[in-house]
Amino acid sequence: MNHQVYFLGAGPGDPELLTRRAERLLRECPVVYVPALYDQPFAEFLHGKELFVPFNYYFADLIALIKDQLIDGPVAFLVPGDLTFYSPFQALVDALGDLAVVVPGVGTANAASALLKKTLDLPGICSRAIVASPRTLGDDPDAPTMGDFAAPGVTLLIYMNNLPLPELVSQLRKGYGSNVPIALAHRVGLPDEEIIVATLDTIVATVGSRDFFNLDSPNPRPALTLLLVGESLTADADPIWWDYRRDHIWKYQDNSLPG
Ligand SMILES: C[S@@+](CC[C@H](N)C(=O)[O-])C[C@H]1O[C@@H](n2cnc3c(N)ncnc32)[C@H](O)[C@@H]1O
Repeated sequence: MNHQVYFLGAGPGDPELLTRRAERLLRECPVVYVPALYDQPFAEFLHGKELFVPFNYYFADLIALIKDQLIDGPVAFLVPGDLTFYSPFQALVDALGDLAVVVPGVGTANAASALLKKTLDLPGICSRAIVASPRTLGDDPDAPTMGDFAAPGVTLLIYMNNLPLPELVSQLRKGYGSNVPIALAHRVGLPDEEIIVATLDTIVATVGSRDFFNLDSPNPRPALTLLLVGESLTADADPIWWDYRRDHIWKYQDNSLPG
């Protein structure tokens, strides 16, 4: 039998956010690759399995090890959040080709949106969402800055921030051209989860001396903090859109209940 490698979207940290498919496959795999953050929250699911930390290996050695493990059974990787944005596992998925199966999960953006109880686009308020990270924009003098993505009508999701907060806020202020809401979602899905909602004018004072981005730490790993910016974070949806859609979209589909 040909076994496969399952890249399971593990969610931001809370195993309750695993999909049923990911949970079933995790239970079926005797070998699991677990980034350090996940061993405690997922302990119940990992009991009795052979565990490996993916980042302990060089790439070629890791591929060889996985192929060896596949002889005896399926292998799982717990993918932080989900593969959709900023996943370090893409090269493994590509190298494994048909042996790799990607199972979607709850990304941090989804979990943060749920915490805020806000959809990140809103008719008449925000017409688009942009995902970006200052860490990946590059140092080239012509490289874009976060201010280039900030604009009225944009919800910005900022992963892996590596800029001091006052500098980031000043870039965003220029792009938005006004004071807009900003949320800092820290360790989402973990027991010490925290969300701070402020505005561009107040966030620096609200955060004070707390280092939410590991900027003062010798640890080069990005912090578990997602920033969300834009009017959609605090605006209320206008109920007029419900009736508009009812008149122009929903009435053309079959809305009858089965049975
Ligand atoms: C390498 S990226 C991985 C993103 C992941 N693929 C996802 O779907 O969420 C790491 C960044 O994601 C965000 N992140 C991941 N887990 C988080 C959590 N539990 N709480 C807040 N932000 C998180 C942070 O911005 C962090 O610097």
